[in-house]
Amino acid sequence: MAEASAKPDHQRPELPDFWDKRFQSGVMPWDAGAVPTDLQAYLRQQGPGQARRVLVPGCGSAHEAAFLDQLGWSVVALDFSAAAVETARRNLGDWGGTLVQEDFFAHSPASPYALVYERAFLCALPRKLWAGYGERMMRLLAPGGHLAGYYFFGDDLKGPPFAIDRPQLDALLTPYFDLVADDAVADSIPAFAGRERWLVWRRR
Ligand SMILES: C[S@@+](CC[C@H](N)C(=O)[O-])C[C@H]1O[C@@H](n2cnc3c(N)ncnc32)[C@H](O)[C@@H]1O
Repeated sequence: MAEASAKPDHQRPELPDFWDKRFQSGVMPWDAGAVPTDLQAYLRQQGPGQARRVLVPGCGSAHEAAFLDQLGWSVVALDFSAAAVETARRNLGDWGGTLVQEDFFAHSPASPYALVYERAFLCALPRKLWAGYGERMMRLLAPGGHLAGYYFFGDDLKGPPFAIDRPQLDALLTPYFDLVADDAVADSIPAFAGRERWLVWRRR
């Protein structure tokens, strides 16, 4: 039998209600309001999108999804919060990608992605959900595809953002991925400053 939680739904980050409340009230301290520079540099290296498939899980306001679409990628922006999806829809306007309201762990695309872009998504998930993250990312990506983005490190337990330590992240991803880039981040927002790194993982 499932354990009843003492907390109301809007205080449980594993539920959309938690995020709905924050998007509805406009309290989104994670939102950079821009496309981070490491992502821009990475996409320049990759060349034109040429309709390659990219997933943005937990897309929030979807600034990066819009940018990827402009570069010619075939974008799926996904979020399980109705309020986040509504915010994304307003920001995206008339774009060429697909915006879906769905739980990441239920997402089952018809064909695999070439790229999954991570920002403030793993650290939005309560730790009890982390065990499924690496395998799900592996299943979403084609062999040789990249899981690229920002990871938030630390050893404090409170969240979100839920910090991860390096051995824990390696344990989640090294069974399926090889690390091909690992860089300091110059343009972090204050909430993440000094504690995030830009990582690119290549699916085996
Ligand atoms: C901290 S916000 C980050 C938003 C965006 N990635 C950014 O960098 O601005 C986390 C987002 O992940 C979404 N989210 C959390 N758990 C999810 C899940 N299991 N499936 C889909 N979206 C989820 C939330 O609704 C929220 O929009």
